[in-house]
Amino acid sequence: MHGKYEGPEREQIPRATSMQAEEFARRLTAMGPSRLEMAARATVDGLHALIAELRPTGDEFRSAIDFLTEVGHYADARRQEWVLFADVLGVSSLIEDQNNARPAGATPNTLAGPFYRSDVPDLPLGASISRDQKGEPLAVDGRVRALDGTPAAGVLIEVWQANAEGIYENQEPDRQPEFNLRGRFRSDAQGRFHFLSVRPKGYTLPSDGPVGRLMSALGLGLERPAHIHFRISGEGFETLTTHIFDRSDPAIGRDAIFGVKPELIADFRPTSANGGKRTYALDLDFVLCPSGVNQNKTFGRK
Ligand SMILES: [Fe+2]
Repeated sequence: MHGKYEGPEREQIPRATSMQAEEFARRLTAMGPSRLEMAARATVDGLHALIAELRPTGDEFRSAIDFLTEVGHYADARRQEWVLFADVLGVSSLIEDQNNARPAGATPNTLAGPFYRSDVPDLPLGASISRDQKGEPLAVDGRVRALDGTPAAGVLIEVWQANAEGIYENQEPDRQPEFNLRGRFRSDAQGRFHFLSVRPKGYTLPSDGPVGRLMSALGLGLERPAHIHFRISGEGFETLTTHIFDRSDPAIGRDAIFGVKPELIADFRPTSANGGKRTYALDLDFVLCPSGVNQNKTFGRK
């Protein structure tokens, strides 16, 4: 927050929205232009605009303070209720979009989410990431290309997903083998990769805290449609962190954290039954953009 001033010109900042906000901004001028000064001014201005619009009563103001206090009490090292709050308001997703905008034709980036692990063993192409073989078998075939269409050979593909009950391995270490449904692969000379897995199930974010109660009062859900997470990295490319979502999941249009984008929706195609179990196939295309592209923010939303 104390970094170089990178905000809009001071004249471009809209007029203060209340007498108090105006006086707050005037007092801030003593500290000189900085990122922190601009953030403080814009935050106070935005809050005052909200108050002018909503005209909260004293009781409503106290309820808001109580809610924020409770969010703080719920947050600890294992349960980050503040992050959950930012996620369900679309704030985390918007910040991710702003910082990792991708040019047209490149696979969109998304939030990594809380379940990524970097210490997963490498696996050979074709291996199964299902270490307990529970669930409906899924064969994943993918291709990684550069924006100009050339194959991205030898890139690292990290994959992680929930199981057929919608639970990640590190959420229930006593029930699932370590590294279950996680793998690290390298693309071949044609930029291709393939592995075996099981079809993931969607899941619901924690609903027992203040954020869950707020969402329930608003009539909004906490569902995340079924998906597989990917992180694809290689020399000369921006690292791509993304999800692939199951088009047939009923929650596809109401992802609680706003991660679904049209390019990230795929068909988990039923294939022939195998010993009574339904089996599925998933074909994927990822397009990486050259490294340094995020320094040149000439595309994407402002
Ligand atoms: Fe996930």
